[in-house]
Amino acid sequence: MKAENPHNPPPTHAPAGRDWLAPVVRWCVVGFGTLGAAGMISCASVSRTVVTPLTIPGAEFVGNENCAQCHAELVRDFKTSTHARLQAKGTNAMHLGCEACHGPGSLHAQAGGGRQNILNPRRDSDTCFQCHLDKRGEFALPHHHPVTEGKMSCGDCHHPHKGSAIAGGGTHLASEHETCAKCHTAQGGPFVFEHEAVREGCTACHKPHGSVNRKMLTERNATLCLKCHFQQQAAAGSVFIGGRDHTAFLTRGSCFSGGCHEAVHGSNIGSSLRF
Ligand code: HEC
Ligand code: HEC
Ligand code: HEC
Ligand code: HEC
Ligand code: HEC
Ligand code: HEC
Ligand code: HEC
Repeated sequence: MKAENPHNPPPTHAPAGRDWLAPVVRWCVVGFGTLGAAGMISCASVSRTVVTPLTIPGAEFVGNENCAQCHAELVRDFKTSTHARLQAKGTNAMHLGCEACHGPGSLHAQAGGGRQNILNPRRDSDTCFQCHLDKRGEFALPHHHPVTEGKMSCGDCHHPHKGSAIAGGGTHLASEHETCAKCHTAQGGPFVFEHEAVREGCTACHKPHGSVNRKMLTERNATLCLKCHFQQQAAAGSVFIGGRDHTAFLTRGSCFSGGCHEAVHGSNIGSSLRF
């Protein structure tokens, strides 16, 4: 590899493509390692599609230092963010800083700010989908958080500017509970009788972006519960769950309907989570 020379920047066509590829390749490695099949899907969609920088008519990329003139704190903290990893040193990956999500900022900077000449993912989630293409599909599923409708933002659950993009670093424990319960206070508890499943995180049962199942459930029926609660097949065709005969109950519908365990998130009335 050539040493970087600021007076003789590499031509923008071919290397520009590689700038985009490099983080994508790294993402794939991360994806294979931690997410298995899901990672492979995002990986394939990212590397094969356009991942071209955002455009704003008449505007050029100016780099983070320029933004720092007026957004000093954001630029300073950005170094700790997940997305800062995308940015290489030097000028040929300039567009992978702030402007990876906000588009080229020259007109915005010249105008001293304003909302006309800068993209804001709060108003347009397409800026995120350019790299996270698989997420567009998730938000198009029949039951989804109303992000593409403009009623909420990826930024309500993710930190774009500082620290881990997934609150708490992606552990399913307390952090996620906080992310979701700030809007869904009723499900967040505290409850007298907690359901331990909720401590594992809301994503133990819900897909946070979208799902084919109502209420964004990961499974539509008893399977949801039986992945943690052992179902015992007794001799005479009867079924025991949690040490109790459930044979007759199971004809009433799913575990969480029909007056059975309707308080799946926790109850103040009884440990069997009925109400
Ligand atoms: C000369 C000062 C200045 C510079 C340089 C500057 N900004 Fe801004 N920016 C502002 C001001 C002032 C606002 C607030 C505008 C308002 O609320 O009307 C703003 C608002 C924004 C917004 C929010 C717009 C919205 O939707 O409400 C974004 C995003 C943004 N800037 C990104 C950037 C990025 C990225 C850069 C670097 C490419 C940058 N800014 C450079 C002054 C600047
Ligand atoms: C990973 C994508 C991403 C990157 C990179 C990014 N932002 Fe943002 N930015 C967002 C999102 C998303 C919002 C809207 C936040 C929300 O929904 O509340 C936003 C909002 C803003 C706003 C509006 C005020 C606010 O805080 O909500 C400013 C100003 C801003 N960004 C500046 C910057 C600057 C400066 C940088 C570089 C240091 C930067 N952004 C990098 C995604 C990004
Ligand atoms: C320029 C491409 C690009 C854009 C634009 C972009 N991302 Fe990312 N994002 C990535 C890459 C690549 C990673 C993986 C970074 C790593 O792990 O090194 C990532 C990581 C993430 C993660 C964390 C994944 C994990 O497993 O920790 C979240 C959440 C995320 N992005 C959300 C967003 C949101 C929300 C937006 C829009 C506001 C956005 N991204 C815009 C490329 C992008
Ligand atoms: C309702 C909250 C919520 C919203 C809104 C949301 N996310 Fe997420 N997202 C999550 C949670 C929670 C996780 C962690 C999932 C897990 O650990 O199982 C996650 C994970 C991710 C990841 C990394 C893991 C993966 O699935 O690939 C990316 C990338 C991501 N989100 C992008 C986005 C983008 C882009 C948007 C907006 C278009 C968005 N998210 C909106 C809650 C949300
Ligand atoms: C910024 C607020 C906000 C946050 C944060 C949030 N949600 Fe939501 N949630 C909503 C909105 C708005 C709806 C749509 C309500 C509607 O359509 O009536 C919704 C709908 C839902 C639904 C479906 C409700 C139904 O009756 O169909 C579930 C389940 C859900 N969210 C779970 C979660 C989980 C899990 C998290 C955390 C990963 C989360 N939410 C984070 C605002 C939020
Ligand atoms: C053990 C599985 C499980 C966990 C964990 C879980 N939920 Fe649910 N959630 C459900 C089921 C099942 C329903 C649907 C109940 C129904 O159909 O009436 C539901 C429904 C919802 C609804 C729609 C309103 C309602 O009560 O019908 C929201 C909002 C919601 N959950 C948010 C959350 C949040 C936030 C968390 C994390 C704090 C969470 N859930 C954790 C299983 C779970
Ligand atoms: C992520 C794992 C997990 C999932 C999914 C899950 N649970 Fe649980 N549940 C637990 C744990 C752990 C306990 C506490 C230990 C125990 O009693 O088995 C518990 C306890 C319970 C109890 C209290 C038992 C008692 O008498 O104290 C009920 C009722 C219950 N779960 C119903 C459900 C229902 C209904 C669903 C599906 C909507 C479900 N669970 C899904 C893990 C889970």
